[in-house]
Amino acid sequence: MEKIIINGGHILRGEVTISGAKNAAVAIIPAVMLSDGICRIENIPCISDVNAIIRILYDLGASIKVIDKSTVEIDPSHINSFVLPSSMTSGMRASSYFIGAMLGRFKKARVAPPGGCDFGVRPIDQHIKGFEALGAKVIIDNGMVDARAETLTGSSIFLDKVSVGATVNIMLAAVKATGLTIIENSAKEPHIVDLANFLNSMGANIMGAGTDVIKIRGVKTLHGTTYSIIPDQIEAGTYMIAAVATKGEVLVKNVIPKHLESITAKLIETGALIEEFDDSIMIRSNPNRPKSCSVLTMPHPSFPTDMQPQMTTLLAIADGVSTVTEGVWDNRFRYVDQLTLMGAKIKVDGRFAVVTGVEMLSSAPVHASDLRAGAAMIIAGLVANGTTEVDNIEYIDRGYEDIVEKLGALGADIKRVRTADSNLRKAAL
Ligand code: EPU
Repeated sequence: MEKIIINGGHILRGEVTISGAKNAAVAIIPAVMLSDGICRIENIPCISDVNAIIRILYDLGASIKVIDKSTVEIDPSHINSFVLPSSMTSGMRASSYFIGAMLGRFKKARVAPPGGCDFGVRPIDQHIKGFEALGAKVIIDNGMVDARAETLTGSSIFLDKVSVGATVNIMLAAVKATGLTIIENSAKEPHIVDLANFLNSMGANIMGAGTDVIKIRGVKTLHGTTYSIIPDQIEAGTYMIAAVATKGEVLVKNVIPKHLESITAKLIETGALIEEFDDSIMIRSNPNRPKSCSVLTMPHPSFPTDMQPQMTTLLAIADGVSTVTEGVWDNRFRYVDQLTLMGAKIKVDGRFAVVTGVEMLSSAPVHASDLRAGAAMIIAGLVANGTTEVDNIEYIDRGYEDIVEKLGALGADIKRVRTADSNLRKAAL
């Protein structure tokens, strides 16, 4: 086990380069299964969730050639299994994408239910509704999601709830179905567009990704391709907030500023000065305390739920009272008790939080209760008086490539250490 130790109070200054988008990578890599040829994927983030997805493809029989840290070539031609037991899914959410990908390839899939960060019930009813509309029979059998179809035929599906996962999964299952599939009320996140662009680069015919109606005209085959994943909008937003929280000045490189608009707008409301360039964004904080504001998380293009804990942490040191409303997940404020340990004044009622800004946070031993909560603890540690220890950092490693190195290069006093517990276990081995 490892933890991250931060001596707070250092201003972040300099440049940071953003890695490829986690939530695009975890959809695009399973989609390789649908190809008849070799796919070369570039700008892959080196994070544990993505490494786990690549491992699943390998365990299923794909040949994987690692070109460098961010590029792999995957030859899926030898995959012949449509079964993914829980021992292979690593308890991750994106393992559900193998249902769509296997259905698309084999017209059958048997996959252990997905895991992932715990912020309330995470149903897959809309995924199943989509598979069934395409002609699959879906049952839960012996703890596995079992989906089978004689043929997959295009259909119209109206999602009852905007869902990233259901949109991805239906696209994967429909891309080689017969005829036209229309997904209405689809998710519009940048990673949905990235997946559509990737599939189109293999010969798919997908229109409308990025709007709330996606049309997929099924094709018989998909060929190999070379594709570069978009930059991670949430990683970029996390560094932007860290810069503002520490009163810093940071150039965030390798971003698509359009994807960051809702985050940029909120940071400007708090008083930050932001300049956009073609593929980078400059954040200069205001010398005064950030101003309070109200935040509502909703699907793209609104403020992303995956930035909510980081933003709440910034508002915890803002001048005035802010409100944060979580519009996507039932239970995404579990980290707040950790911020309270550090002196934050936050009252949560269900999906609603009132944040009364304090001048300063103070250090404490805290833990990451999920991936983005972990990023929030690091931001809190960067601004707090004294030394903050963040535990459970395996959550953070799921989604942030080299976070300790990147923050260190910006001037943070941050390190990763093995815990005594792990040293003891190492000694005993
Ligand atoms: N929902 C349903 N039924 C479904 C699917 C979803 O009711 O069949 C509900 C969920 O309970 C939730 C809402 O719809 O209230 C949105 O869920 P969505 O399906 O969009 O989430 P997801 O696909 O499971 C992805 C990201 C999450 C991110 C959400 C929302 C991946 C691998 N995960 O999850 O990212 O919070 O979209 O944007 O893409 C993260 O990166 O930290 C993370 C948790």
